[in-house]
Amino acid sequence: AHNERESLYIALGYARDFFVKSLHSEEGKSIGLSYFKERGFNQNIIEKFDLGYALNGWSHLHEAAKADGFSDEILLKSGLILQKEGDPQRLYDRFRGRVIFTIHNLGGKPVGFGARILTQDKKQPKYINSPETEVYHKSDILYGIFQAKKSIREKDNCYLVEGYTDVISMHLAGIENVVASSGTSLTESQIKLIKRFSDNITVLYDGDAAGIKASLRGIDMILEGGLNVKAVVFPNGEDPDSYARKVGSSAFKDYLESKAQDFISFKIGLYAEETANDPIKQANLIKEVVQSLGKIPDPIIRTVYIRKSADLLGIDEDIIQAELNKIYLKGK
Ligand code: GTP
Ligand code: MN
Ligand code: MN
Ligand code: MN
Ligand code: MN
Repeated sequence: AHNERESLYIALGYARDFFVKSLHSEEGKSIGLSYFKERGFNQNIIEKFDLGYALNGWSHLHEAAKADGFSDEILLKSGLILQKEGDPQRLYDRFRGRVIFTIHNLGGKPVGFGARILTQDKKQPKYINSPETEVYHKSDILYGIFQAKKSIREKDNCYLVEGYTDVISMHLAGIENVVASSGTSLTESQIKLIKRFSDNITVLYDGDAAGIKASLRGIDMILEGGLNVKAVVFPNGEDPDSYARKVGSSAFKDYLESKAQDFISFKIGLYAEETANDPIKQANLIKEVVQSLGKIPDPIIRTVYIRKSADLLGIDEDIIQAELNKIYLKGK
């Protein structure tokens, strides 16, 4: 009901305030704030993104919220507390002893949280995130969209990264038109959200096998959505956060400018080496490229890219066109 959504927003706003306040408690300062400082996050960025800290204990948030009149039902539905397995009367805080990244909706309301572990404990997940709730549909939200939307419109481009910390480090580097898919695969509805502000996306996924794979999938999704897409590849093992801090903001910006490739060059470049002396792999690459071309809805843009692909692959445009026709015949 409408009323329930309102209650969830109020509870999530309360939790945001609680996590922000906890960051400045004794425990929060010595554990959470020092962690953020180590990563180069300043007070300004901490406030801009509602970064916080979840105290280490089973019911700090629950007790406080209860005392301030929140019902267990609303706290459960907002994903802030959980029922103990096998003993549903026992309730406990979802986020404990972790730094908090507040997830805002387009209007700036807190709808969920991502919580990062502070130790290297391999038995626990690095991030714990809010579950799906009535006001938090993961497939519809992009981390950072509230802080980025104005800049995306002004720059007429949106950088797409994997993680919370990539968004924050890029803001620190002076780049505000950036959102994160938060480690999940990009959805049609997230692309539509970006399209409200710009038709151009530059994918900046992590420089590892998983990042490259996600980029390729993301690129096809973006093409299908009718947007223009570029990609930047980072050196092996680097993500936008680590790379920006490594080289500094000015060199980082230069890197983005000079290394942004259109999707065709990106795809062909990835396979250039391994296909060079292997006709079968070369043939597969051509088919791969044709698959992507088939996703472009606009015939004029498609034609431009067909020409470019033919050029880069060293084959005739007609061959690509013929392959494309096969895809269309197979049914759309
Ligand atoms: P740092 O290690 O703090 O720099 O984080 P990162 O953003 O570089 O992490 P990574 O590249 O491993 O993952 C990218 C994003 O995926 C994160 O920002 C999270 O949103 C999400 N993610 C990473 N690890 C986990 C996990 O263990 N559980 C869940 N649910 N999400 C995760
Ligand atoms: Mn709903
Ligand atoms: Mn990664
Ligand atoms: Mn990363
Ligand atoms: Mn990282």
